[in-house]
Amino acid sequence: MPLVASIDQGTSSSRVILFDSHGAVHAMAQEEVQQVNLHQGWSQMSAAMISASVDRCIAKVAAANSQPIQAVGITNQRETTVAWDKSSGLPLCDAVVWNDSRTRDTVAALIERTPSKSKNHFQHICGLPFSTYFSAVKLRWLIDNDLNVQQAHDEGRLMFGTVDSWLIYNLTGGPDGGVHVTDVSNASRTMLMNLRTLTWDAEMIEFFGFEKVNLPTIKSSSEIYGYIKSGPFAGVPISGCIGDQQGALLGQRCIHPGDLKNTYGTGCFLLFNTGEEIVLPDPECGLLTTLAYQFGPSASPIYALEGSIAVAGSAVRWLRDNLGIIKEAKDINDLATTVKDTGGVYFVPAFNGLFAPHWRDDARGCIVGLTQYTNKAHICRATLESVCWQTKEIVDMMNKSASTPIRRLKVDGGLTASDLCMQLQADILDIPVLRPSMAETTAFGAAIVAGLGAGVWSQDSVFGEEALNSQGKVAVFENSIDREARNKRFAEWKIAVQKSFGSL
Ligand code: G3P
Repeated sequence: MPLVASIDQGTSSSRVILFDSHGAVHAMAQEEVQQVNLHQGWSQMSAAMISASVDRCIAKVAAANSQPIQAVGITNQRETTVAWDKSSGLPLCDAVVWNDSRTRDTVAALIERTPSKSKNHFQHICGLPFSTYFSAVKLRWLIDNDLNVQQAHDEGRLMFGTVDSWLIYNLTGGPDGGVHVTDVSNASRTMLMNLRTLTWDAEMIEFFGFEKVNLPTIKSSSEIYGYIKSGPFAGVPISGCIGDQQGALLGQRCIHPGDLKNTYGTGCFLLFNTGEEIVLPDPECGLLTTLAYQFGPSASPIYALEGSIAVAGSAVRWLRDNLGIIKEAKDINDLATTVKDTGGVYFVPAFNGLFAPHWRDDARGCIVGLTQYTNKAHICRATLESVCWQTKEIVDMMNKSASTPIRRLKVDGGLTASDLCMQLQADILDIPVLRPSMAETTAFGAAIVAGLGAGVWSQDSVFGEEALNSQGKVAVFENSIDREARNKRFAEWKIAVQKSFGSL
C-alpha cells in the first residue's frame, strides 16, 4: 500500500506519521514543543524551533521506515502568526500563539473603528468576530509594537503566514525558492479571507492596513504546492494542507452535512459540517463560520460551523506543570476516578479569556465551591468536567443553529483517552459519545488531502465502505444520569462562568 507522510504541528507537540489509505499508522515520531509565557496573557513560540522540531521528526520517522513516501501533508495549530524576513527567510520575532491575549487593546481599538462598533461587524465577510484569537489582529499588533516587524513592513520585507505557510516555505527551500502559500481552511482563520470568493478580501486588507504585507497565496487543501527541497523526503510533493481541527473533521470522515466532531487537544474544537452552505449563525450563539476543506482547486469548498474552546488539555498540563498535583497528564483519569463527584467544585479554566460561546477576553480562571473537604482528586474531576460543560454550552448553541438536533458526538484527541472524561461527556450531553480506536485523526486528515492532491489514492479508497469497515472498534459512551441532576449541575456551572467574567 502506498504511504503518505503527515506533518502535524500542534500547540503542544510536533509529529510526523506515515499512513496508508485506511488510516493504519506505519511509523511515527513526536516531540513536545515549548511555549514561552513572558507576560500574563502572552504565549509565544520560537518559529525556528517549530521548523527544527518538524525536521527532527521527519529524520526519526524516515530512519524507522524503508518504504517510499508518495506525498506529504501538513496540518497545524491554526491562527498562530509567524512574521519573517523576505530576504533572509528568518523569523522577525517569536510566533504569536493562537491563545495569546496580548491584543485585547488592539481588539477594542479595531471594534471602535467599525461603523457599527460591533465585534461582529465583518462576520458576513469572514465568518469571525473580532477577538484576540485571529491572526490579522496579532499581525496588526506586531506591526504596531515590534520594531523588527515594523521595519520589515515599511521596507516591504514582511512575510506573513500561519504555521502551515511557514513550514511549507521552509520545506520547499526557504529564501532559496520556497513557496509562500496557505490553504483555504487556514486562511479562513485570519479574518482576511472572503468566505465566498476564497481570496484575500480588499475591504479587510484595507481595514487592517496590510497593503504592504506579503501574504501567502491561498490554495485549495489538496493540490501540489511544491516539492521538499532537502533531507530524507527530498523530492516528495507537499500536496495537502489543512488546519488541524478541519483535519480531524476529515480524519473522522465527517464529510456529510450534519456530521460533527469534537477534538480534545490543547483547546477543544467542535466542527459541524454544513456542506456547500455558508451558515452565518445568530452572533449571540458565538459560533464561527469557517472553511472546512476544498478537495482541489476546482472542487466546491465545504464549510463548517465551529465552537472553539480555548482551554482543554492545557488545563491538565497546568495541573501537572504549575500545581504539580499530577505527575503525568494521564494520571488525571485515575485520580479523578477516586472520587464519585467534584464535591461541588467547578473550575472555569479561562486562563486567557473565554472563547465560544461567550467571547469574553476579560474572563479569568476561577475555581469555585472549595471547602475543607475538597482535595486534589476533586480538582482533577472538576478539570475534566470543565471541558465537558464547555462542550455542552457549544452543543446547545449548535442545536439552536442547526435544523435537526445533534444525536451523537464523534470525539478524538489526547483527553479522549480518559474513559471517565468521555463518560462525563455523555452524561452531560445526554447523547452517545463515539471514540474511534484510531487516535490520530488530525494527522490522518492531512494525509487524506495529501494523498488525494498527489493522486496517490481516490476519495473512494479513503471514504468508501472498505476503508470505513477497516476503522476498527468504536467505543460508545452512553448517558448514565438523570435530567434533574444534569440541569442542576449545569445551572451551577453557569454561575461559575459568570464569576469568571471581568475578574481582573
Ligand atoms: O485554533 C487553534 C487550534 O488549531 C489548536 O489546536 O490541537 O493545538 O489544541 P490544538
